[in-house]
Amino acid sequence: MPATKEQIIASLRQAYNMEVETVINYLANSLHIEGVRAEFIKQALATDIQGELTHAQQLGNRIKQLGGGIPGSVHLKMTQSSLEPPADTTDVLHVIRGVLKAEEEAIAHYKALIKLTDGEDYVTQDLAITILSDEEGHRQQFEGYLKEYSKGK
Ligand SMILES: [Fe+2]
Ligand SMILES: [Fe+2]
Repeated sequence: MPATKEQIIASLRQAYNMEVETVINYLANSLHIEGVRAEFIKQALATDIQGELTHAQQLGNRIKQLGGGIPGSVHLKMTQSSLEPPADTTDVLHVIRGVLKAEEEAIAHYKALIKLTDGEDYVTQDLAITILSDEEGHRQQFEGYLKEYSKGK
């Protein structure tokens, strides 16, 4: 069964929701953590906020092109518990692991969207592939940080 436009819009809206929630949590963690080890990760997160915000804008544009509406905060669902800022504000590893989980979830969602749109909606598929490439880049970046920050722990 080919995907309907409604299914594609629903998947795009879910992706939009995930990106917005990621922006909120990267912002929170970039402000929350502290200490010598935290400084670099704070900067990396602050930079990534802009990238994830751009993803949300690109997804929103596509939702509009397909005739869908953009959800405001009342219609967004917030579930990303792994990125809740840690009680120990120097627990940088917790944040790195949370970022990796968020990126894995994004990668899984974009792969599903690529399949959903296959043969049906090439423009959305192209966008999903482009964003997937960004998320795989983020994952690689944070896997490197995980390696380094895990040393001597
Ligand atoms: Fe993203
Ligand atoms: Fe990302």
